[in-house]
Amino acid sequence: MTDISSKIPHICVLATGGTIAGMAGSATRHEYLPGQISIEDWLGRVAEFGLPVKLIGTQIANIGSEDIGPDTWTALQTSINAAMADEGIDGIVVTHGTDTAEETAFLLDLVLPARKPVVIVGAMRPADAVGSDGMRNFVNAVRVASDAGALGRGVVLVMGDRVLAARDARKVRTRGTDDAFRGFPRGSIGLVTPSALEWFGNPWRQDEPARYAYSGDLPEVPILYIGAGMSADLVDRILPNDPLGIIVAGVGEGNMPKAIRERLVELAKAGLIVVRASRVDEGLVDREPEDDSNGFIAARALNPQKSRILLQLLLAKKEGDLNAIQTAFDNP
Ligand code: SIN
Repeated sequence: MTDISSKIPHICVLATGGTIAGMAGSATRHEYLPGQISIEDWLGRVAEFGLPVKLIGTQIANIGSEDIGPDTWTALQTSINAAMADEGIDGIVVTHGTDTAEETAFLLDLVLPARKPVVIVGAMRPADAVGSDGMRNFVNAVRVASDAGALGRGVVLVMGDRVLAARDARKVRTRGTDDAFRGFPRGSIGLVTPSALEWFGNPWRQDEPARYAYSGDLPEVPILYIGAGMSADLVDRILPNDPLGIIVAGVGEGNMPKAIRERLVELAKAGLIVVRASRVDEGLVDREPEDDSNGFIAARALNPQKSRILLQLLLAKKEGDLNAIQTAFDNP
């Protein structure tokens, strides 16, 4: 797979599509198609910069990230595990649409060992747009994936010059190339340019094995987004047959109208796992005394979409113990 005779870092690049591989057909047009540039074409463009790395590309998919889910995650997990086992590979970069990058990053963080750097990268503007950020972000991502200091930090996401831990990264804007993502609650864990990389804090997952098994088979877990005055009928309407769990994107600190809470308490007593998250962008949901009697889980710092990923993995391994589930949310 690789030529290990040279000392330059060998980086495996797994492409999935998104805006970073998107084209608008005009430098200023708003509409564009994600997933238009192949990995061969992309690496050809990167070659113009003469980076001191060897890049080995694989096209996993070429789609908008709204269509990424268990199948693409399975392909990524398989390819990344193979790259981690390949002594000739130093790090892995995954190109990805930004819309669901935080979910893919978090899932991979939970199901991969912390053995080699794994970096997710995207772009806010397509490749032919004026001020396109894709190449800048990609070269920064390659810099991070080549750095031994990335070891033990789990999967990270690079956007602009920031490095964010997968557990913290979240998309907070739909426009803007520099501040579309933020780390919450921990902020950036590093700052990167093509020529410099500074890490903040120490690695926390040195040589850690994968924390969760992943087979590609995840139970469906709906997210109930709470709005003022919402009817309790909606709870049952969004649950699949034989439901195992639900995430509530509650108001404030995971609150919900009384009638919805009462219905969810009934369902929790019947075995449904109910996680209270917050619809607030930087929402922290701590456990309340009533969570014990209600049988609810507090999402803590995980937003609803990341709470869903974690609960799916817990339910896939048939975890039903509320204390164990709460501990998983306390230390994602
Ligand atoms: C996508 O997520 O595939 C489209 C949006 C983006 O990459 O920024």
